[in-house]
Amino acid sequence: MKSSCDARFPFLTLFLFAVHSVGVYAGSFHKDVQIHWGDGRGKIHDNLGNLLSLSLDKFSGSGFQSNQEFLYGKAEVQMKLVPGNSAGTVTTFYLKSPGLTWDEIDFEFLGNISGHPYTLHTNVYTKGTGDKEQQFHLWFDPTIDFHTYCITWNPQRVIFTIDGIPIREFKNSASIGVPFPNDQPMRLYASLWEAEHWATRGGLEKTDWSKAPFTASYRNYNVEGCVWLNGKSSCPVNAPWFTQELDFKGKNRVKWAQSKYMVYNYCTDKKRFPRGAPQECT
Ligand SMILES: *[C@@H]1O[C@H](CO)[C@@H](O)[C@H](O)[C@H]1NC(C)=O
Repeated sequence: MKSSCDARFPFLTLFLFAVHSVGVYAGSFHKDVQIHWGDGRGKIHDNLGNLLSLSLDKFSGSGFQSNQEFLYGKAEVQMKLVPGNSAGTVTTFYLKSPGLTWDEIDFEFLGNISGHPYTLHTNVYTKGTGDKEQQFHLWFDPTIDFHTYCITWNPQRVIFTIDGIPIREFKNSASIGVPFPNDQPMRLYASLWEAEHWATRGGLEKTDWSKAPFTASYRNYNVEGCVWLNGKSSCPVNAPWFTQELDFKGKNRVKWAQSKYMVYNYCTDKKRFPRGAPQECT
């Protein structure tokens, strides 16, 4: 069986969604997450726990976190981003471990003024060090419909996927001395917050608070992984994401996304890395 992040089997994906709707594999925001930030600005909208919204106003943003921690897994959700003038807002979906030398895998969507594209910012941190940013513009307007964003994290690689299309692969290059997130369990987080200074090139575009509250929606939360409990991890048997890799077609899709939609790549930033690209880039 293939992971539902993978669009190569649309029939099977449909089947899995059908199963979701009767509740067998369904994630539920009621059951699986805590709205840990925002004092009522985050809300679950239905009894099944399928739809959640986060909002942001002048006083605070909001966010939720998964109840469970995972060491490897597949985290998938559908998101509809803040419409209209979203400059200065950042909507996120990411995995992160606690502590000062944390690991983290990020999807962060930087808002923009009306009619201008969002920037999707991706990054991978190991032991508290990131510096692996790749940014994209999207091939669709992420504020009109829900789209599926997925992080696959297994011992060999991290794959970022949008609507089944892989856009980035971060391989385990520990054999050449590049740290890989492989021993710190992570929780899934999502948030909507204000980062005018970071998100809009040093505060170039101001957040338009007259449009507040800003709202982003999340639905069909589905996170499965090796659940971390009492210092031990237990993995589902034969989970497809655990060994998932990119085949020829998957690699071509990454090339497509990167050649057409990538707007920043740390690997080619010579100003930042004057002595040559980081090892994992070559
Ligand atoms: C906003 O849109 C402009 C293009 O119109 C783009 O250059 C810029 O990177 C975008 N800013 C963000 C934060 O996405």
